[in-house]
Amino acid sequence: MAGKIAQSFIDDLLTRADIVEIVGRSVQLKKAGRDFQGLCPFHNEKSPSFTVSPEKQFYHCFGCGAHGSALGFLMNHDSLSFVEAVEELAGQLNLPVQYEADASAPATPSHRGLYELMHEAQLAYERMLREHPARERAVEYLKMRGLTGAIAKTFHLGYAPPGWDSLCSQLGTDPVRRQQLIEAGLAVQRDNGSFYDRFRDRVIFPILDRRGRCVGFGGRVIDQGEPKYLNSPETPIFHKRRELYGLHHVLRRGTRPARILVVEGYMDVVALAQHGVENAVATLGTATTAEHLEQVFRYVSEVVFCFDGDKAGRRAAWRALETALPLLTEGRKAGFLFLPQGDDPDSLVRREGSARFEAPEHTTPLSRFLFDELSARADISSMDGRAQLVGLARPLIGKVPAGPFRQLLAQHLQSLAQTSVRLAPAPPATAAPSAKPRPAAARGVPSLIRRAIGLLVRRPNLAPLARELPAVNVADDPESALLITLLERLERNPLLNAGSLFEALRETAQESLLEEIMAQPILLAEDLWASEFSGAIEQLARQQQRQKFRRMVNERTPRAVPEQEPPHTTGEPLE
Ligand code: UTP
Ligand code: MN
Repeated sequence: MAGKIAQSFIDDLLTRADIVEIVGRSVQLKKAGRDFQGLCPFHNEKSPSFTVSPEKQFYHCFGCGAHGSALGFLMNHDSLSFVEAVEELAGQLNLPVQYEADASAPATPSHRGLYELMHEAQLAYERMLREHPARERAVEYLKMRGLTGAIAKTFHLGYAPPGWDSLCSQLGTDPVRRQQLIEAGLAVQRDNGSFYDRFRDRVIFPILDRRGRCVGFGGRVIDQGEPKYLNSPETPIFHKRRELYGLHHVLRRGTRPARILVVEGYMDVVALAQHGVENAVATLGTATTAEHLEQVFRYVSEVVFCFDGDKAGRRAAWRALETALPLLTEGRKAGFLFLPQGDDPDSLVRREGSARFEAPEHTTPLSRFLFDELSARADISSMDGRAQLVGLARPLIGKVPAGPFRQLLAQHLQSLAQTSVRLAPAPPATAAPSAKPRPAAARGVPSLIRRAIGLLVRRPNLAPLARELPAVNVADDPESALLITLLERLERNPLLNAGSLFEALRETAQESLLEEIMAQPILLAEDLWASEFSGAIEQLARQQQRQKFRRMVNERTPRAVPEQEPPHTTGEPLE
């Protein structure tokens, strides 16, 4: 069990990391003056407004406002949690993560042993597909399914040979190990206490999480047999409601696709990829859940569900529609790709090629599917049918979060029903945990303190100029409190950069304030920053003196004296 990650370690990490290198792995960057520029990976753009500053160890997009440190980039771009991003960066720099000595903070178990075991198993299955004496059966089967050796390698396909302990005998037989194999779902315990391999004589599809770590396996029988697919059971690292087969493959590619296709089978994902359709993921034998969709919407704004065109397929599509409706916040889109009867994506792409999966005109927008289905259930040529339509549609449209899509659906319903329709109030949008609402950009003239903070974070070596700032009571002024926090941190460690100052505030109330302040550009030539900063600090000190004086006066006279100072600036903004 590990405790909270030590703040000093995060500081250390961010002074050693090079944000240009980290961002440069996924964004093509060009030097532009002191900074680097490229096309923003967080929104679609044609000319680069995404800037990475090696000096500040900070990235910022002037187009969409995305910004942050190296850790922030890993979190937003690779959708890692904060702890995952720290682990990832530490791993890249070969530093062991340091935790706070006092681990009284809630501990998150690290499933490192489990991940390692799954990885070992994945390698063993892959090796057996290459080397096991019985491998021909599996190889023939994969060939018969039209797969190339290259695609098998890309998806790390493997083979579990017949026999009861092909895997277990390789991974270890001591009691501790056996217990781990059971916990990982790789071995099954008999009533009499003995063990055997869960997967036998099957082609193995490793299930990788979005970061590429093996969390489970699907095993397909080679000829006939039941069940056709055997899957890993739920384990501490494998949750079928959340994982999507193929997501890592989709994300690993340099450019992010505009949309992600959700299909039903392992084989569908692999066959599509082999035919150049590299944006498909599969649920793992379960219906699509809201958690699946939240994963997808972290990366792309459009999801397309692929289903058979038959009755069962349309029923499954309807369930997916109901799951998707509450998640369709502004900017997100869902659609359906109905396949000819009797086909699945695998058979279709092998017969026809990729066109149907790529051309948007084959996609039925969710709104069309919704109204088509409802109109089939209610006859809108009669008044009674139109009333029925309203009854069916209202609760569904009511699930959509407030925004243009909800409005348009409601308008369309009104025109079909030829009457006005009142919806229940829109539910609060269910946003992905990583998608924090952006603070409204501060309007008007930034206050003196905001100005000082903006300058200080951009250029932390200004901190010594603020030594004169007298100690103040900051309890009820968040802006002064933030400035003091930053100055204190810089006093302890003058090497901190913008990225690490930012990270130190993550998930505190001060974070969004700092985000808001940093969203305001400093419209002042850089050689004036130092005098601007010390000017601001001087004024601040004078204000504080005056306030102190007023408080003293207030304490003697019962009448209240206004304490508010008009906003000040010390320099005129440059255009
Ligand atoms: P399908 O039966 O559509 O399989 O199940 P498929 O992918 O087309 O398989 P092939 O082409 O016959 O090889 C879709 C998904 O449902 C789950 C698997 O995740 C499978 O990919 N499933 C299916 C199981 O978990 N167990 C089963 O027995 C069958
Ligand atoms: Mn199939």
